[in-house]
Amino acid sequence: MVADLFTVRNRFIVFDFGFQSSDRYTCKMSEVLQSIRKVFKQKFNEQPLVIKAPGRINLIGEHTDYNEGFVLPAAIDRYIYFAISKSKTDRCNVYSLDMNEGVSFSIFDLNPGETWVNYLMGVLDGFERAGKPIHGVDCVFGGDIPAGAGLSSSAALCSGFAYGLNQLFDCGLNRVQLAKIAQYSEHEFVGLQCGIMDQYASLFGQKDNALLLDCRSLTHEAIPIKIPGYSFLLIDTKVKHNLASTEYNARRNACEQGVAGILAKYSDVRSLRDVTHSMLAEFKNDLAADTFVKCLYVVEEIRRTQQAVAHLKKKEWVQFGKLLFQTHWGLSQAYEVSCPELDFLVSMAEAETDSVIGARMMGGGFGGCTINLVKVEKLESFQRKVFDQYVATFKKEPDFYLVNLVDGVGGGT
Ligand code: GLA
Repeated sequence: MVADLFTVRNRFIVFDFGFQSSDRYTCKMSEVLQSIRKVFKQKFNEQPLVIKAPGRINLIGEHTDYNEGFVLPAAIDRYIYFAISKSKTDRCNVYSLDMNEGVSFSIFDLNPGETWVNYLMGVLDGFERAGKPIHGVDCVFGGDIPAGAGLSSSAALCSGFAYGLNQLFDCGLNRVQLAKIAQYSEHEFVGLQCGIMDQYASLFGQKDNALLLDCRSLTHEAIPIKIPGYSFLLIDTKVKHNLASTEYNARRNACEQGVAGILAKYSDVRSLRDVTHSMLAEFKNDLAADTFVKCLYVVEEIRRTQQAVAHLKKKEWVQFGKLLFQTHWGLSQAYEVSCPELDFLVSMAEAETDSVIGARMMGGGFGGCTINLVKVEKLESFQRKVFDQYVATFKKEPDFYLVNLVDGVGGGT
């Protein structure tokens, strides 16, 4: 399987966002691209359009996007590549290199089922609903974004496919519209009521920058990310989450219930974005205790994300790092979307005061990666320590990821 090409042999990686390139990595990516082109030629014998769609990390602002708050994601150099062309019929013939599996279906028969095909069918349906009906396509795709690691492989899949269709059929949709179609696919065909952060980050990513995204206006400010002497290290718990499995949607529901309660007094409130700490406090006895705690986390996290960006702009790295820890414990204890493995990794990071200035779980939760802000000269010793203690405790090996911040979806080369 192509995924094997990306197995990280040397676990202890030193990396620095945007300011180091990895020849070994680039070489592996070109191998994947070559495989995709080769398989496409074998199967379809045409000249395809080639697209690459990045995964994402999120520095801070977790579970705030569907509350119209702020988030701070960035696109990373882990991609899904697509080779795609028109099929000249109503059929879509799609082959997933990583799954070693192909499917063929008519665009007039888009029914959600149990597999990865849902993501693509949802995008096709989204185009139809946007008044941009399209025809069949031939497509081969594959990449190296680990699935279930919280790096948004599914958003990359939907965003890249949507971008490809838009180009092929000359639909003229802009990137925000494509992000909405990609989100629609997850909502309607996959069953995850996700926010728009992941799709937006994959489509709008900017090299060496994170995006301070306002999830209400769907506009962003690019925030350069360079913290001298420190690197962000991703540690994969290897706990595979299944966001669609009710908990994520339940959190979203709790937030909506909170807003419904607050509306009784503040009729202008549209989402938790409009709610301040003191406004929420007025409803402590009216809202169900659990709803109150969940809403409080979100209200605090929206504010924390703005504070974090202010610290970044003032180069107050230590204060920025402290906010990452605060976010983690809010997600773990109040929002209850963490798991023992994530908590273990963050606790370890917190104890390493000489090496790490901030760490937290990242993404929807229940598994996936932590993001750690680690002193460069301590990277290797920190990773060794984490590796040994994690294996001793959980009897499984964590992975460490090398990533750089990159531009969003575009032509693959
Ligand atoms: C998942 C969702 C996003 C966002 C995060 C949590 O990644 O897809 O929309 O809600 O969880 O911040």
